[in-house]
Amino acid sequence: RIEQRVDSVLHLMTLQEKIGQLVLYTSDWDVTGPTMRKGYINDIKNGNCGNIFNAHSVNYVRKLQEIAVNDTRLHIPLLFGYDVIHGYKTIFPIPLGEAATWDLFQIQRSAHVAAEEAAAAGVNWTYAPMCDITVDPRWGRVMEGAGEDPYLGSKIAAARVHGFQGIHNDLADTSTILACVKHFAGYGAPIGGRDYNTVDMSERTFRDVYLPPYLAAIKAGAMSVMSAFNELNGVPCTENKWLLTDILRKEAGFKGFVVSDYNSVEELINHGVAADGKQAAEIAINAGLDMDMQSTLYQKYLKQLVEEGKVSEATIDDAVRRVLRVKFMLGLFDHPYLYCNNAREKRVIESPANMKAAYEEAQRSLVLLKNAHDVLPLTKGDKIAVIGQLAASSNDLLGAWRADGDTIGVPNLLDAMRKYNGRNNIIYAEGCEKEGYNRSGFPAAIAAAKKADKIVLVIGEDCDWTGEASSRANIKVPGVQTELLAKLTALHKPIVVVLMNGRPLDLSREDTLADAILETWYAGSRGAAAITSVLFGEYNPSGKLPITFPRCIGQVPLFYYEKNTGRPIYLPDPKYKSRYIDCPNTPLFPFGFGLSYTTFHFSGITLSSDRLYPNDSIQASVTVTNTGKREGEEVVQLYIHDLVADVTRPVKQLKGFQKIALQPGESKTVTFTIKPSMLAFYRLDMTYGTEPGKFDLFIGDSSNHVNQTSFTLEK
Ligand code: IFM
Repeated sequence: RIEQRVDSVLHLMTLQEKIGQLVLYTSDWDVTGPTMRKGYINDIKNGNCGNIFNAHSVNYVRKLQEIAVNDTRLHIPLLFGYDVIHGYKTIFPIPLGEAATWDLFQIQRSAHVAAEEAAAAGVNWTYAPMCDITVDPRWGRVMEGAGEDPYLGSKIAAARVHGFQGIHNDLADTSTILACVKHFAGYGAPIGGRDYNTVDMSERTFRDVYLPPYLAAIKAGAMSVMSAFNELNGVPCTENKWLLTDILRKEAGFKGFVVSDYNSVEELINHGVAADGKQAAEIAINAGLDMDMQSTLYQKYLKQLVEEGKVSEATIDDAVRRVLRVKFMLGLFDHPYLYCNNAREKRVIESPANMKAAYEEAQRSLVLLKNAHDVLPLTKGDKIAVIGQLAASSNDLLGAWRADGDTIGVPNLLDAMRKYNGRNNIIYAEGCEKEGYNRSGFPAAIAAAKKADKIVLVIGEDCDWTGEASSRANIKVPGVQTELLAKLTALHKPIVVVLMNGRPLDLSREDTLADAILETWYAGSRGAAAITSVLFGEYNPSGKLPITFPRCIGQVPLFYYEKNTGRPIYLPDPKYKSRYIDCPNTPLFPFGFGLSYTTFHFSGITLSSDRLYPNDSIQASVTVTNTGKREGEEVVQLYIHDLVADVTRPVKQLKGFQKIALQPGESKTVTFTIKPSMLAFYRLDMTYGTEPGKFDLFIGDSSNHVNQTSFTLEK
């Protein structure tokens, strides 16, 4: 029925009106790119712009929608897009922190809350989930993804789509919004970690590692995709027919529409694949890029290109059909003001239930990296010196891409610790700034620490040091924060480092200096209370790293699913092997790692059979026992290694995980079903499938702490 309605509208449209549906302009409310367009309201009125982004809140959205519905000939409603990445106004942990929960329920719920709030504010389209795998902590947008792993990334991508669009993809439901899978594709692998830079990788790596999360999101029902800024193997993604048509539409069966990134059609000129704007528009639309975000080139040139026969009207019709289809699915043709309800806006946004969800997810996102001598948890009533500029910052807690989130009503960590532990038991000193080399606050910090039983030093990065266009060449804790840590350790008091940052950092020095390290990312609107609850043991930390933390920048890129090479590190020869002479190969903190206040014992692995036949499955089980004194959660992780194949295979690949809760003394048996499809990869001839032979299977609590067995995949 939708298809008939789409065709009936398309039938009425002039070429100019069709092109208008392929144009997306920003309102001047928010700045998310380098260009602005003053005349967007006139463009809507003239039917030259069928979609708007960066406009939100019911009154403003209604005003713009009224122009489209009342003043244009065909009354076609606008789409309203916005970067609702980790919350609309109630802000959840940054996506990398969400990924550290390894908790798909929490992640789906956070996307759902974000969708509900955004929808209540007039928005019907989010530019999320970002599905870009990255192994490079220098890249600023590492904060916005799910880390390094294709399996975990795929599960999270699907959970986020279900959260935004609803489990049944009922887009007309007013608590859901349209998801946008971005940035298609390979945006997370720029050379040198520098944002927007060239991406060059083999098709095998692309398909095995980078492609799966995008495809998982599409399979989950996402109805829009954003092309990436970068080139992939010589062809900018904005005009990459192989990506936008062959893979996306023909292979993956995607039925939604593709939007460019901000001005990226025009940037084809800088890439050097278009001589001018007209050619840029031509190659983009012919590659399968349906909607032009912000460049104005579709508006300027598509009509002429059709008249000259360089773009067929059928190509335009297909693109328009895809956009109209989504507008119908969202219910906009029947109810253009579906998302414009002032009472709902007031009721839903920042509701206590939403804040509770943000708090609970924040607790689960925190990763305990070190806890020597059980210095954590702190004891209520301890005299604690809280030191660091980040401790007193609400702004940083919200992280980058915080949509409409603001600091009003967002307690910082200092507020939260004072509230929990009593004002008199917390002694604050700034110590130093996040960046810069001013040491004048050191004496006051040392004086504060002298008065305390324990020290909590809050250090890391300004939240604007991560996100778009925020790549770093150095991944150490900035400025003199670590120098201050070294000074404080001279007092020989228990010292806890609380980190706030949006990327893996080189923590080798902090690791030698601090007794405990708690990674808190940017934990969101209720992050401060969540961190406090973990510091004082009200919640037992359960987060696990979704990305490797290297020992130093020289190891980057470092990831757990590396290949063995012909000269692996374990060879007895002291020299001729793949290694550094001045640093171990191993990371400081591996993928999947995170401590708890309790301890877990893993039994050996039981296999239902050590032979796996095609079209059959086997079960691998372990029994996990809580051997400590308090309840806790553990992420039981399954990895597999294909020992011999026609192409080299990673030493380990995550193939499953389960998060379980255990009371002290309690045991649970965790079972994974192993199917041949889990062992498939792109073979020598680039067909996707399995090869029979022996596989190692590992189960453990992180990628480097596992029990091992093996099985054979039979012919
Ligand atoms: O959605 C974003 C994208 O991720 C980066 N450039 C701007 C877009 C719209 O704000």
